[in-house]
Amino acid sequence: MPRILILYYSASGNTRKMAEAVAEGIRAVGGVEVDVKYYVNVEDLAGYDAIIVGAPTYNHNMPLEISMVFREASARNVDLKGKIGAAFGSYGWSGEAPNLVLEIMERKFEMQVIRPPLLVRYAPGPADLEKCKALGMEIANRALSK
Ligand SMILES: Cc1cc2nc3c(=O)[nH]c(=O)nc-3n(C[C@H](O)[C@H](O)[C@H](O)COP(=O)(O)O)c2cc1C
Repeated sequence: MPRILILYYSASGNTRKMAEAVAEGIRAVGGVEVDVKYYVNVEDLAGYDAIIVGAPTYNHNMPLEISMVFREASARNVDLKGKIGAAFGSYGWSGEAPNLVLEIMERKFEMQVIRPPLLVRYAPGPADLEKCKALGMEIANRALSK
């Protein structure tokens, strides 16, 4: 069964709500295993078929908690080549973080990224949560057809 990881950071809960909706979409498709985590042991990343990162934008960047995961994975030569990558996140006014995540996934780890990333301004409303679910469904379907 394909395994999907949703790894997120959220200081005020907006990206967390998005993460839960993405997971709901994945579970609705079924036939895949999904883990929703705030912290991951980088060695465990290699065991997933798809890695979805939820990153709110703080100070025009992704949170340190997320960038450290990539730095550590790189330092330990964790092989993520060919895995499905996606990113989402809440933002206030500039929203760079999810795009920065996708760039690292693609350039550094040679993952197959899904573009564009899903951005939501501040708290996700019902329509935003539907988009999050749709993203989850798309990723689950891609993981199943790999
Ligand atoms: C100290 C601070 C810095 C922020 N910097 C940015 C920024 O550079 N660009 C942006 O788009 N939003 C910025 N924001 C807004 C957050 O991205 C926004 O509040 C988002 O909803 C937080 O998501 P979270 O609840 O998942 O932590 C900042 C917020 C705070 C409190």
